[in-house]
Amino acid sequence: MIRIRSGDTVTELAWTGENIPAARLLAQAGLYPDYPCGGQGRCGKCRVLAHGDLSPAAPEELAQLPPRELARGMRLACLARICGPDAELTLPREDGLLVVGSPKGSIWKHDITLETRMLPLGEPTRPY
Ligand code: FES
Repeated sequence: MIRIRSGDTVTELAWTGENIPAARLLAQAGLYPDYPCGGQGRCGKCRVLAHGDLSPAAPEELAQLPPRELARGMRLACLARICGPDAELTLPREDGLLVVGSPKGSIWKHDITLETRMLPLGEPTRPY
C-alpha cells in the first residue's frame, strides 16, 4: 500500500504495478504541490519526503537537493518514481501549513477555506 501524508490526513492508494511518478500519485490523492518548472527538475520546489520502494535519485535531484536532505528522504515529486507497493510520501509544511497548489500552479495554504466564484468581467478598457 502506498501512503500519502499531508497534515493529519493519510491517504492509502494501491500500487498498480507500474512505476509511477510521485507527482501523479499526489494528484490522485487530490494534492498538487507547486511545480514551477513544469516538472523538469530545475527549480527544486516540489520537494516531498519519500521512503520505501522508490527509483534512485535522478541527476536533477542530486543537483537540486543537498546530500543531507537526500539522506533524510527528501525527493523531487516531479522526478521520483514509485517502484513498488511499499512507499510513503509526506508533503512538507511551510510555516506550519501545508502548501498545496492547483493543477494550474496556483498556491494555497491548506487550512484556508477555498471557494470558487465565477466573476463577470467587463470589456477590456484598452487593447492588449
Ligand atoms: S517542479 Fe521543478 S523540480 Fe519539480
